[in-house]
Amino acid sequence: MPDAAYTLRSQATELRRLRLQAEVWEPAGRSLLETLSAPGGAQAVDVGCGSMGWLALLDEWVGASGRAIGADVDDAMLAAAGALVEQRELRRVDLVNDDLFATRLPAGEFDLVHARFQLCPLGRHEEQIAIYRRLVKPGGTIVLEDPDHSTWTFDPHAPATEQLVDLVVAAFAAAGGDFDAGLRGAPLLASVGIEPKVRRTVLALPPEHPYLRLPLEFAQSLRPRLVELESEAHVDALIAEAEAELASPRRVGRTFTLVQSYGAAA
Ligand SMILES: C[S@@+](CC[C@H](N)C(=O)[O-])C[C@H]1O[C@@H](n2cnc3c(N)ncnc32)[C@H](O)[C@@H]1O
Repeated sequence: MPDAAYTLRSQATELRRLRLQAEVWEPAGRSLLETLSAPGGAQAVDVGCGSMGWLALLDEWVGASGRAIGADVDDAMLAAAGALVEQRELRRVDLVNDDLFATRLPAGEFDLVHARFQLCPLGRHEEQIAIYRRLVKPGGTIVLEDPDHSTWTFDPHAPATEQLVDLVVAAFAAAGGDFDAGLRGAPLLASVGIEPKVRRTVLALPPEHPYLRLPLEFAQSLRPRLVELESEAHVDALIAEAEAELASPRRVGRTFTLVQSYGAAA
């Protein structure tokens, strides 16, 4: 990986997690896109698209004569995205291997630049927004989607799972990321001259919804980081207790807040 701070590798759990996550947040994305009109022949890019990202949404949004690019630096992610493109027959999507920080994408060409969960793992906020600003064409829109973890809770209270959430947030910070990057989206857009709008979405998860297990999936992907912060025995105990808490058929949860910060470039 070109970025030392990037903590989430393309392991099978991570590919699965990203696919589920994209499905969970698809309605929020669709609802935002319904407010943004696409010009004829629209060009869109999903930066760091992962294994699904907004590819299906952008395939629809760009319209019959438009194109959507899914860009990612990780070939395993692109292979999973390619399988999705084929399976869902996303005919307007092209996938490219591109390192955001040395991007070969054309400047000033995109009507829509979308970047979800990019600020939070990479944490290079000023560089990232400057690159997105270069990619978008005058009048085009930048959409940033990142979390704010303050709403991420369980009912009944799940103390071990909530401690695991705190540990995951700390692991992002220790690796140079910023889990609560959703709070930075609007000021970052303003810093490049874009008047920001903000939408916030929190989902209520019913018992046994697979996205309730997100803290456990992060714990698996980030395990090497977690054991730098806490003893292995403590991490293992938390994971075992969280497994038991989340297996309860009575436990519901709320997601982190998905913060969508967006605005049009002059
Ligand atoms: C947390 S995932 C989010 C994936 C997708 N945006 C989504 O919301 O489902 C972050 C993605 O950014 C990609 N990535 C990390 N560093 C990158 C870089 N320098 N340039 C392009 N993509 C990068 C990773 O390979 C991964 O697919």
